[in-house]
Amino acid sequence: MDKITYRIKRFDGTREWFQEYTFPYEKNKTVLWGLIKIRDEQDPTLNFTSACRSAICGSCGVRVNGNAALACKTSLDELLEIYQTSTLTIEPLSNYRVIRDLVVDWEPKLERMKEVKPWLIASEEKDLSLGFIQSEEEFHKISNPTDCILCGCCVSECTQHSTNSQGFYEPFIFTKSYRFTIDSRDNAPSQHLTPSLEKGGLWKCVRCMQCVTKCPKGVRPADHISGLRKESMGLGHQQNKGARHAYAFYDDIRKTGRLNEMTLPLKTEGLTKTLSRRIPLALRLLRKGKLNPLHFPRPVQGIEGVRKIYRLVQKEERS
Ligand code: FES
Repeated sequence: MDKITYRIKRFDGTREWFQEYTFPYEKNKTVLWGLIKIRDEQDPTLNFTSACRSAICGSCGVRVNGNAALACKTSLDELLEIYQTSTLTIEPLSNYRVIRDLVVDWEPKLERMKEVKPWLIASEEKDLSLGFIQSEEEFHKISNPTDCILCGCCVSECTQHSTNSQGFYEPFIFTKSYRFTIDSRDNAPSQHLTPSLEKGGLWKCVRCMQCVTKCPKGVRPADHISGLRKESMGLGHQQNKGARHAYAFYDDIRKTGRLNEMTLPLKTEGLTKTLSRRIPLALRLLRKGKLNPLHFPRPVQGIEGVRKIYRLVQKEERS
């Protein structure tokens, strides 16, 4: 292949269109190399952001053929091999307001991130001259969330954000919230955690894992959301729908190895809400023969193995 084409989504503040740029292909180059080449040699009006060119600053996130990626880290050779084409479609990150072309507005999200106080809060009695020493084991707990460079790829592909972002934090905000909640040097974990629970929709994540698979730095926001849920239950936040749902799952699987869909809503939402909200759905399911109120799941074959796993996990957690 001697030529490559970028099909770039443009936006001038009012109008959107796709524009194609074709240029000579070179081996061992990145998507960002192509963008810079277009701006330098063909179209100085093309807008995009980049700085370090080393996957450190997080400013060059874009979508390439529908997947969020860091332009400076994404190899053209690999993309052409995967897609078997000489044309790549490049768009701005999803779930952001677009300012111009590939440039998106970070301000509202960074403002929201401040709610989880993404900084260490030291004890007032702390003797600062001693420094903030951490063991290797304590450091490893925060090592993965610390790798986040705020590139926004996780938000772009988040299923919950694409569906309804109201009352739901961006995955990277949960990562920051978790990182400071569990940092052994911090003296106020609930100040980092409570906003995620009360404002951030901690239990709304549907665990589609897009944030994990699309993160160019191997950060695992979905795991940090699970970690925050666990921490929140440990801090006594157990009387909310999400925590009750998790306990209902836990109990059902331990008892029989399968879910009891009759009792799950009752345990999660309570009798009154279940009756007021679920009756029409339950009646429809009954009519279609998809629900049997007289059916109580019997333990699955091998239930002892399931219970053994529970005991092992509990033992592991205690130690
Ligand atoms: S330019 Fe800094 S991460 Fe890509």
